[in-house]
Amino acid sequence: MIVLETKKLTRAYGGVVAVSEVDFQVKDGLITGLIGPNGAGKTTLFNNMTGLDTPTSGQVFYNGEEITNKSAHRICRLGIARTFQNIRLFKELSVLENVMVGLHFKTGKDPLKGRLKAAVDSYLHVRTEYDATHEKAMKWLEFFGLSEFADELARNLPYGHQRELEIARALATDPQILFLDEPAAGMNPSETESLMNTIRRIRDLGVTVVLIEHDMKLVMNICDTITVLNYGRNIAQGTPEEIRNNEQVIEAYLGKEEE
Ligand SMILES: Nc1ncnc2c1ncn2[C@@H]1O[C@H](COP(=O)(O)OP(=O)(O)OP(=O)(O)O)[C@@H](O)[C@H]1O
Ligand SMILES: [Mg+2]
Repeated sequence: MIVLETKKLTRAYGGVVAVSEVDFQVKDGLITGLIGPNGAGKTTLFNNMTGLDTPTSGQVFYNGEEITNKSAHRICRLGIARTFQNIRLFKELSVLENVMVGLHFKTGKDPLKGRLKAAVDSYLHVRTEYDATHEKAMKWLEFFGLSEFADELARNLPYGHQRELEIARALATDPQILFLDEPAAGMNPSETESLMNTIRRIRDLGVTVVLIEHDMKLVMNICDTITVLNYGRNIAQGTPEEIRNNEQVIEAYLGKEEE
């Protein structure tokens, strides 16, 4: 079943057409990869599906309902969470508090006007919900093996753990779909290996995962299906095997294998 799809989505910045008439589909329960050269439009496509940017033309559908032009916080409330290419954590809050913000963002009853800061302020005033939220947040830290860092400031975490914490915070909003923008960027091989397992475990929780990634080992190992962008256009989609052997993709991005 298709849970998310774009129809002829285009985003132009002046003369630069970052995303051009892209039809992109995400199937329920799968891990979908989005790959392509630097500047191909991957992050722009993510931003236009998650309400951080507005398409020039085209549409976005989530479970059959049009969500084009909806705000980021409404889209999050509907069940789509994401992380960012450049980590965005509350660096001066503790590791645990970062996840609690995610939990509160989902369950908070106040209109938050789309700003996570409002969620933080609101969280700080709602002490009654504190214990339940605390417990749930600890469960997410356990899932990521971050329990021992609960009281550390987020900024003191090693880089790989900061990336995981950002994923934990996104998952705390209880999403149906999780978008990850280059989750392995800056990770060493053993961190990447552990991330691969984590992403599979997230999929096994029933969360649909969409990820942008340049690490081809990770992409080819864990994705059920892959879409390739080049100069803003969708040039291929298929299984890892099909993508690896697609002449156009090899030409545009993967390159010929060296002896
Ligand atoms: N806010 C913006 N204003 C102007 N141009 C932009 C803006 N955002 C993106 N672009 C341009 O759109 C194109 C696509 O950028 P995008 O960041 O989506 O690429 P990407 O595939 O995510 O690349 P990378 O792999 O390097 O992250 C680039 O040419 C970029 O310079
Ligand atoms: Mg990008």
